Amino acid sequence: MVRPLGEGYTDALERLPLNPLHIIILAAGEGTRMRSQLPKVLHTVGGRPMLAHVIERARALSPERVHVVFNPETPAVREAFTGEDLAWAPQAERLGTGHAVMQAMPDVPDNADVLVLYGDIPLLDPAALDALCAVHDGGLTLLTMKPANPRGYGRIVRDLAGAVDAIVEERDADEATRAIGEVNTGILLAGAGRLRDWLGRLSADNSQGEYYLTDVVALARGDGQAVNTVIAEDATRLEGANDRVQLAALEARHRRIATESLMRAGATVLDPSRLDIRGVVETGTDVILDVNVVLEGHVRLGDGTRIGPGCVLKDCDLAAGTQVHAHSVLEGVVTTGACDIGPFARVRPKTVLAAGTRIGNFVETKNVTLGEGSKASHLSYLGDSEIGAKVNIGAGTITCNYDGANKHRTVIGDGAFIGSDSQLVAPVKVGAGATIGAGSTISRDAPEGQLTISRARQTTVTGWKRPVKKD
Ligand code: UD1
Ligand code: CA
Repeated sequence: MVRPLGEGYTDALERLPLNPLHIIILAAGEGTRMRSQLPKVLHTVGGRPMLAHVIERARALSPERVHVVFNPETPAVREAFTGEDLAWAPQAERLGTGHAVMQAMPDVPDNADVLVLYGDIPLLDPAALDALCAVHDGGLTLLTMKPANPRGYGRIVRDLAGAVDAIVEERDADEATRAIGEVNTGILLAGAGRLRDWLGRLSADNSQGEYYLTDVVALARGDGQAVNTVIAEDATRLEGANDRVQLAALEARHRRIATESLMRAGATVLDPSRLDIRGVVETGTDVILDVNVVLEGHVRLGDGTRIGPGCVLKDCDLAAGTQVHAHSVLEGVVTTGACDIGPFARVRPKTVLAAGTRIGNFVETKNVTLGEGSKASHLSYLGDSEIGAKVNIGAGTITCNYDGANKHRTVIGDGAFIGSDSQLVAPVKVGAGATIGAGSTISRDAPEGQLTISRARQTTVTGWKRPVKKD
C-alpha cells in the first residue's frame, strides 16, 4: 500500500512514550483568511479534509484517545467525522492555542503524555512524530523546524548552551529575535500533569491578548524543567494553510509526496507534476501512468498496468496487464485479468471485466460483468447485464435496462454475436452462440445458436423519383 511516508530520522529510536498517549488536535481556529463558508480544517488536500489527514496521523500512533478542539458554532467540523471514535472538546471563544488545549485537558489523566497537533497541518511527517516520541522524557518536547522563510512563526530562543529558553511570537519579537531561523511548528509533547499546571499559569499579557500555548516553554524553564527538541528534517511538511494560496502549495507538496511513494513502489510516472493522487493507491511493478491522470479513493494497479493520458480512476482494482487508453473515466471497476479499455470509455460502478475483454471508445457500462474475451468496441451502453465469454457486442448496441420505473437485467450467453445498432429490451436473454441481426429490437428471449432478427424487410421502390425544388 502506498501512502505518503517520511524518510530520515535514522538515529531516532522506534519508541513511543511509555505513558498512555492522549492527542489533542486544535481545530477551532476561525480561518478567516480562507474567505469560505467551509471551516478551514474541512478544506481538502489530496481529496480529503485537512483534519482527516491529521486524525489519520494521530491514530497511527495508537493513542489512548484523540481529542479534537472545535468551535461549537461550526458544527460541520464535528459532523464530518460522525461515527469516528473521537473526543470532541468545544472551545466557545478563540482565546488562543493555550486556551484551546485547556478545553480538552479535563478528559486527560495526569499520568498521560499529551501530543498537540494542528488540524491545518495535514502533511505532517510520521517520521518527525516518531522522533518526537523517541526523545520525549515525560517533560516537554518541541518539534521545531528551519523553514526557508520563518515569517509568521514563533521563534525558538535558545541560551548560549543551546537549551531552549522561550518561544517568542513574531508579533511580540524584537528585530534580533525575528532574525532567528529556527521556529515553532506548534507541535509538542508534554507530560499531562505538568502541562495542566503550566496551562493554569498562562497569562494573556501579549500583543494579541491570547493564552499562548507557547508560553509553557518559559514556565517549564522557570520550573527547572529541561525542554527537549527535535528539528524536523523536512519543514515543507509542517506548513499549515491559512489561505487558499497556501492550500494550493500544500496540494502541490502532497502531490509530490504521494507520487514519489508511487514511483518508489515501481510505477513510472511520465510527469510527476501531472499526476493527482486523491486517496490511497497501491501499485504493482512496471505500472506506467501517463500525464494528467487523477486517481481517487482506493485504487489498486496490478503489475504492468498502463494508464493513458487524461484518465480519471476512482475506487478501481485493475488486474496485471490492464491497459486504459486516453481520456477514459473509470469508477468502481474491477478487472480480473488483463483487458483493454478506452480511449474515451466511461466504465461505471460494478463493472467487472475478465481477461481479454475490450471496452472501446464511447462505450458506457454500469453494473455489468463481461466474461473472458468479450468485446464491446464502439459506441454502446451496457447496463445491468451479465455477458458471457467471447461475446461480440456490435457498435451502437444498447441495453434498454430501465422501463421508467424499474431496472431489469440482460443476460447474454457465451459466444453470442450482437449485430450493430441493436436494442436489447430488458428483461431479456440471448442464448449462447445466438446471433442477433443488426438493427434489431430484441424484446423477447433469443434462443441459442439461432439467428434472431427483428426489422422490417428491405424493399426497393422501383421508379421512385426524388422530389425536385419548385421554381
Ligand atoms: C502558532 C504558534 C506559533 C507557531 C505556529 C505554527 C502560538 C501562540 N503560536 O501560531 O508559535 O509558529 O502556530 O503554525 O501557539 N486554534 C484554536 N483555538 C484558538 C486559537 C487557535 O483551536 O483559540 C488552533 C487553530 O485552528 C490552528 C492552531 O490552533 O489549528 C494554531 O492557531 P493559529 O492562530 O494559526 O496560530 P499561529 O498564530 O499560526
Ligand atoms: Ca497558523
